[in-house]
Amino acid sequence: MSYTQTLQDTARALVAARKGILAADQSPRTIDKQLEAIGVKPTAEMRRKYRQLLFTTPNIEEYVTGVILHDGTIRNHTDDGTLFSDLLIAKGIIPIIKVDKGTVPHTNFSGEVLTQGLDNLRDRLEEYYNMGARAAKWRAVFTISEHTPSEQNILFDCMTLSRYAALCQEAGVVPIVEPEVLFSGNHSLERAEAVTTQVLQKLFEQLQWYKIDLSGVILKSSMVLAGSEYAQQTPAEEVAQATMRTFMNSVPKEVPSIVFLSGGQTPQRATENLDAIAELEAQEGGFPWELAFSFSRGIEQPVQEAWKGKEEKVEEAQRALIKRLQLNSMADQGTYDPSME
Ligand code: G3H
Repeated sequence: MSYTQTLQDTARALVAARKGILAADQSPRTIDKQLEAIGVKPTAEMRRKYRQLLFTTPNIEEYVTGVILHDGTIRNHTDDGTLFSDLLIAKGIIPIIKVDKGTVPHTNFSGEVLTQGLDNLRDRLEEYYNMGARAAKWRAVFTISEHTPSEQNILFDCMTLSRYAALCQEAGVVPIVEPEVLFSGNHSLERAEAVTTQVLQKLFEQLQWYKIDLSGVILKSSMVLAGSEYAQQTPAEEVAQATMRTFMNSVPKEVPSIVFLSGGQTPQRATENLDAIAELEAQEGGFPWELAFSFSRGIEQPVQEAWKGKEEKVEEAQRALIKRLQLNSMADQGTYDPSME
């Protein structure tokens, strides 16, 4: 099988109908904060137990094509010593590795950050491939304020995303490029649309300039939303229209699929917006890309609340996971209704 064919097959497998990607790749710092919020002492063992709860959930493979893992998680294992990556592969789920190393302040550009992690990436990708990873994620972050994001911030991050994507494709790994335009802020929907369009246009200009094979790329995007502190929150139908208008104006048709992050919306709102996007797709007679969910907080928040670190609550938490996945699977088809909550 050719290199292009392999990347395309993986990209397609990751967005199979009615399924999505579980983003369980919180850094140790982020997952520790989430554990503390549910009253659990954050330790490496509790992080392991939480990931075990997620990945051993019965029938998770009916709703999930891939799981994004942090470096520490892909090397970790269940109680009986089975590597998490092997457990997922046995269920037909593709392990995906988060390869960026988080953000650092952008010198001379107050309030902006750059994503780092290119050092040794070629070697790291080879190692992850040998561990079973067939896709890799890299997240760049853009903050909307009166003066941000700057052109310099957008350009640098998009060039970095292009270099990471090139190394992924060289390694036979599908890049899941994630330029996240943050939900936090008090910007309007129109401003979010303008910034997201600007970022995505620059991203695809750079990806093409660096000769990335777009047919072997997945875009992971934020939905286009008015800022979380903006007085007027947007109904789902308008979020769907703004989001899809943005993609039509910036994402080439060669890209096979676009998946969404939840970005700090409540789980229900993320699902409602996903559903509205699928309904719009049906009205418009289809979009050029396969669309799917790739939420972290939008799926895991109710799971963590049900679990609270208690052994006797594992099954209840796993039921909460399946419920959220089912609702998102329905939203992916445009058949979700809030009464199902
Ligand atoms: O990088 C962020 C995750 O992949 C998605 O997280 O759904 O909580 O925004 P989120």
